[in-house]
Amino acid sequence: MTRTQVLEVIGSDRDEQALVDAIDFDRLPRHVAVIMDGNGRWAKSRFLPRLEGHRAGVESVRSTVETAARLGLEALTVYAFSTENWKRPTDEVSGLMGLLKLYIRRELKTLQTNNIRFGVVGGLDGLPKDVQDELRRGIAETAHLTGLQFSLALNYSGRSELTDVVRRIALEARAGTLDPTTIDEATIEKRLFTAHLPEPDLLIRTSGELRVSNFLLWQIAYAEIWVTDVLWPDFRRRHLLQAIADFQKRERRYGGITAAGSRA
Ligand code: FPP
Repeated sequence: MTRTQVLEVIGSDRDEQALVDAIDFDRLPRHVAVIMDGNGRWAKSRFLPRLEGHRAGVESVRSTVETAARLGLEALTVYAFSTENWKRPTDEVSGLMGLLKLYIRRELKTLQTNNIRFGVVGGLDGLPKDVQDELRRGIAETAHLTGLQFSLALNYSGRSELTDVVRRIALEARAGTLDPTTIDEATIEKRLFTAHLPEPDLLIRTSGELRVSNFLLWQIAYAEIWVTDVLWPDFRRRHLLQAIADFQKRERRYGGITAAGSRA
């Protein structure tokens, strides 16, 4: 997408236009990952049940997916439900599951129209059957699409993902199908839920917390982290644009040295 096309979509908001102008379209992050936090606090500040915060958060997901697709990002992965989230009250968990189903039902057409390939990062099998069915339908019906790869991280935690990978590698070694002396980083990467995605360049976290919260632990090794105080239900296009503009001001050294020769 060209700058003009992005501007057409962005409309007449001057601040957003200025942000689009500040973005170098040749140096976009390939993969943006998001820890969506603050739904509960957003609801509490309005004297609403927590689920209303999650419901409002779905609108932010919609806006973020649309912006990411229009900018031409390759991948967007958002943390929607962690393996630890099962500990929440039953009605909150079932409410979140209901929102997931509804999201796919309502958004599938829009995802398809925008050439967006939908995916799940995490233990899909551990979700309720009806939610699985809906998600699998979303995955199957967008599998051929070639634009933004949009993934929901569901029933996901970085440690359990890595533990599973270690177990599978050990089993393969025991079965004689893998020579342990050949194990390298690629051996692990190939077995991650994200094997088909570039690694995240930018990790966004909302609601001001300075934590990684067990999200994509292996994959974010060199990601730039951008934290905003904005609560997830208030997160909109301009915040994503700001995060990308700020990302482009950072110098990524991957443990090396800068062009000027100073230490990384
Ligand atoms: C964190 O806020 C948010 C979650 C655990 C769930 C995120 C889910 C959504 C945005 C809605 C579902 C998404 C889709 C696409 C259907 P929190 O509840 O931990 O907030 P708090 O820290 O303020 O309590």
